[in-house]
Amino acid sequence: MGSSEQSKPNLYLVGFMGVGKSALGRKAARELGMRLIDADHQIEKEQGKKIPEIFADEGESYFRNLERQFIESGHPEMGCIVSCGGGLVVEPGMKDLLKQKGVVICLFASAESIIERTSRNKNRPLLNVDDPAAKVRALIKEREPIYMDSGACITTEGRTVPEVVRHMIRSYEANERSFRK
Ligand code: S3P
Repeated sequence: MGSSEQSKPNLYLVGFMGVGKSALGRKAARELGMRLIDADHQIEKEQGKKIPEIFADEGESYFRNLERQFIESGHPEMGCIVSCGGGLVVEPGMKDLLKQKGVVICLFASAESIIERTSRNKNRPLLNVDDPAAKVRALIKEREPIYMDSGACITTEGRTVPEVVRHMIRSYEANERSFRK
């Protein structure tokens, strides 16, 4: 890790499944000279299992504990953009924990876009139900107040990737100073 990377407070990307946290995080990380860490991938690597298997074998609350451990002590304190699974910030205490650890940005999109984007893969156990569109709508409704209170909210709707990344970087730069160590 370079010295400028070390001095940069972490950026936590939150928001619903399918908004593009990982892809947008990767691009922003490249531009900011930070390292992208995907919470889901880290957990999968440590457990030696894919998310659907963890849900099936151990259950959702076990997975939520893994997410909590990852945020509490499983990743570097500086220099990272952390792409968080969609439910991570929703669990009790997690929103405040993320806000203590670094800058939080919430990405959002319309339910229609999310339904369309999440229909392309079957790796999300919560949407592996008879009516995934209804489930997306119900979960968005339930989670929206928490997402909206988690940090700067940036829409991806009707914007190109470079546009969203520009907004993300502006928001990060406006908020990161108070976290410098
Ligand atoms: C989840 C979102 C997923 C993954 C898991 C649960 C959720 O991550 O953590 O399937 O509860 O919203 P993505 O947001 O990266 O799809």
